[in-house]
Amino acid sequence: MTSSAAHTPEPLIEVRELKKYFPVKKGILNRVVNSVKAVDGISFDVYPNETLGLVGESGCGKTTAGRSLLRLLEPTDGEIYFRGKNIVQANTKEMRALRRHLQIIFQDPYSSLNPRMTVEGIIGEAIKFHGLVRGEDAIRRRVQDLLERVGLQPSYVTRYPHEFSGGQRQRIGIARALALNPDFIVCDEAVSALDVSVQAQVVNLLLDLQEEFNLSYLFIAHDLAIVRHISDRIAVMYLGQIMELAECETLFDNALHPYTQALLSAIPQPNPRRKIDRVILEGDVPSPLNPPSGCRFHTRCPASYGPCSEVVPNTVEVSPGHQVACHLYDDYYSPKDPSVWARLPRLPRVDAIAALPPGVAEIIEELTTDDPVELEEAPSDDPVVEDPVSEPLEAEAQAGGEEATGGEEATGEEPLQEEASETNEESQQEEDSDVEEDSEAKEESEAEEKDPARSVASEDTDTTT
Ligand SMILES: Nc1ncnc2c1ncn2[C@@H]1O[C@H](COP(=O)(O)OP(=O)(O)OP(=O)(O)O)[C@@H](O)[C@H]1O
Ligand code: SF4
Ligand SMILES: [Mg+2]
Repeated sequence: MTSSAAHTPEPLIEVRELKKYFPVKKGILNRVVNSVKAVDGISFDVYPNETLGLVGESGCGKTTAGRSLLRLLEPTDGEIYFRGKNIVQANTKEMRALRRHLQIIFQDPYSSLNPRMTVEGIIGEAIKFHGLVRGEDAIRRRVQDLLERVGLQPSYVTRYPHEFSGGQRQRIGIARALALNPDFIVCDEAVSALDVSVQAQVVNLLLDLQEEFNLSYLFIAHDLAIVRHISDRIAVMYLGQIMELAECETLFDNALHPYTQALLSAIPQPNPRRKIDRVILEGDVPSPLNPPSGCRFHTRCPASYGPCSEVVPNTVEVSPGHQVACHLYDDYYSPKDPSVWARLPRLPRVDAIAALPPGVAEIIEELTTDDPVELEEAPSDDPVVEDPVSEPLEAEAQAGGEEATGGEEATGEEPLQEEASETNEESQQEEDSDVEEDSEAKEESEAEEKDPARSVASEDTDTTT
């Protein structure tokens, strides 16, 4: 995909048609018989001080994309520019200099730190290697300073990784990534292995550090709620390719690609009484060894039609910065048959799209007026966007910046009491809202007794998939 027109500054990172294939070898001669097309032609930009979220199902190529981007894996093809310099063509010496600016935080805080090294060794190693600071004392002071920045005690420099909790280890991983004053960090599932409350602390820490050091992130994660909280824009990947890319709120408000719509519909709802259409994707994720022809999603797409199994979709920019790789939005292939559009998990909000193919707005309007029940369930004001994770994240942020004052250890009696009273208030609010909902439910059941058809209509809406 091309760069977002919504951004004015020059991109920090530009990725063009990046590919990473892993060869599959067989026999005693180790002949290459096939290749795993883990990343198959992805393009995007990351701007200064921006977080680009990268989401998609397990195995879709997120980690491979992140590592190839930093040349921790050698790309098979494509171009990667950092401040206009092509990283792919950089030699070892140039790459070593570039490495300072491009860092990664790994997914697993348990295996990403060398168990035989102290924290000082782990964080100080790169500082020493790049000659940023000279002399043992100066390096130790720098490491202590970094530990403080990520909310850990400076005295931990002599400890080993096994002496820390998962959240603390991830903070050490963040300190290590920060040690060389980078400009860009790939955060590969940086919080996925942590408890929800620790996730919130680490995400808030990443946001604070971004502000302080003017960092850009590629934030890779499964969890859309967290990605939404941290990202400015989001790219959705499926089987090695980018299906949709848009500003964060645009994506949640008006996802266009059927795959994105399905992913969004899977976000758990805090209130089970809230009705949204959950899309169950049928069939298994195809193998990246032999990806489907045409649109890679066609074997599972509820709207799949004529050209989908044969023609690879173009990436269409439907509005500034909102790009989607789907025939539905392509002037040439867009279907005029309303039944194809009716199979979409959610009808697009035409008022939010600048460049719909001719005739499509009319089809969608017609479908919308024909089916008022669907309209009520449409995504524009859909409560799906009220995610369960950002609430604790915001609560954490308000709770007083634990990161700045000493990590998990700083949690003393008082914060616990505050938490307890907050919890009481919350549960009171929940009780209140339960009472309201109970009375609503009662009114509804009385209405149903008077009009049984009402009940049937509501059940139908519930089971739509
Ligand atoms: N070294 C490798 N050799 C061969 N195939 C690989 C290798 N690394 C990854 N793959 C394959 O490439 C595809 C993409 O893997 P990748 O780890 O990038 O996915 P992911 O999106 O990060 O998944 P997850 O969300 O589970 O971390 C998978 O099919 C995986 O099996
Ligand atoms: S191109 Fe066809 S199969 Fe692919 S997402 Fe669009 S409608 Fe579905
Ligand atoms: Mg991964």
